[in-house]
Amino acid sequence: MNSFNLLLLAGDGVGPEVAAELEKTLSTLAELGLFKFELEQDLIGGAAYDVHGTPLAQATVDHAKAADAVFMGAVGGPQWDHVAYDVRPEAAILRLRKDLGLYANLRPAIGYEALADQSSLKRDLVAGLDLLIVRELTGGIYFSEPKEIVVLEDGQRRGVDTQIYTTSEIERIASVAFELARKRSNKVSSIDKRNVMKTGQLWRETATALHTAKYPDVELEHILADNCAMQLVRQPKKFDVLVTDNLFGDVLSDIAGALTGSLGMLPSAALGEEDLQTKRRSAMYEPVHGSAPDIAGKGVANPIAMIGSLAMALRYSMGLEDVANLVDRAIANVLNKGLRTRDITFDLTKAIGTREMGDAICREIRTLAQ
Ligand code: NAD
Ligand code: IPM
Ligand code: MN
Repeated sequence: MNSFNLLLLAGDGVGPEVAAELEKTLSTLAELGLFKFELEQDLIGGAAYDVHGTPLAQATVDHAKAADAVFMGAVGGPQWDHVAYDVRPEAAILRLRKDLGLYANLRPAIGYEALADQSSLKRDLVAGLDLLIVRELTGGIYFSEPKEIVVLEDGQRRGVDTQIYTTSEIERIASVAFELARKRSNKVSSIDKRNVMKTGQLWRETATALHTAKYPDVELEHILADNCAMQLVRQPKKFDVLVTDNLFGDVLSDIAGALTGSLGMLPSAALGEEDLQTKRRSAMYEPVHGSAPDIAGKGVANPIAMIGSLAMALRYSMGLEDVANLVDRAIANVLNKGLRTRDITFDLTKAIGTREMGDAICREIRTLAQ
């Protein structure tokens, strides 16, 4: 069996807490002979800033480029609110995404039957929900220039962010969505604001042209982003694959988190282009949630988003679909057995901690593997 080189960047806040459960799960899979890996760890975010004065050392970027897959916990927190914009913890994630060319961000949201009463919506609207947000991750308003605050002649300050998209950027992310849709229910909802944005107009025209040229068999609908946000909380099950830009994808995926019961449930994969010769692609796997400063250090964070991100890595970077399914099934079984971290139960007296949830998932993996 191949051995995979993994890099773990645990980060800040609850990052290290959920990362410990990822390590535990990796070890369990290795003990069962299902997976072989070498794991190295490095600093990122506020933790790296405190040591190096930068949230992402160049050596860490090089390390990430060489790895078969990178796992990231979370970065940020109020301790670093005062640091300069260029070296804030969040800058590290953006740089890693850019430097590794991770343009395709897959953010699946599953409405587990067992958690349906935990959702902010009525049970029937979310039980059995299975949607996939495909978010463009290396362009748009997050990266385009100019991006600055300038002082005007009258002494006011002016903040500028710029949104730029090119046809090739839109085509490559829309292709990912169409390809994935063919393996699901063959439907793509493309989200834009073409009624007010030129990038939105280009987004829609490009998605339509690509659909006509290459994917006429896939059903395509266009939805304005504000309407999509409303539809997501009104009738989420009408969606399957959603494809959208960097900023809308960020916002809509947190909404998807609330649908499932908690942001602590949402895994993600950020993928680069496949190298045609080596068949390798850069990839980073991370929970959708942040460092959750309000619960950090208490041992109560939900590790499912992080462990679910491992399942995605097994699927997309290691080609181990069976092992990925095993991890996903273990998560579902543990939820079916009624085990709950604090964020996914109303009965806090019965809630278990981060470690207990990780232990339960690993126990379930062992049972399933027998
Ligand atoms: P957040 O995602 O950290 O937290 C939002 C809410 O969800 C909080 O109430 C938190 O307790 C809860 N939550 C999040 N993850 C959870 C988990 N695993 N289990 C249980 N509950 C969980 O968002 P925020 O509070 O707006 O941001 C905090 C910091 O994290 C900021 O500095 C932000 O920039 C950063 N952030 C980082 C990432 C990342 O590293 N990928 C993502 C989002 C936000
Ligand atoms: C996410 C986060 C990041 C983003 C931040 C921390 C840079 O919110 O991954 O969803 O906005 O992309
Ligand atoms: Mn976000």
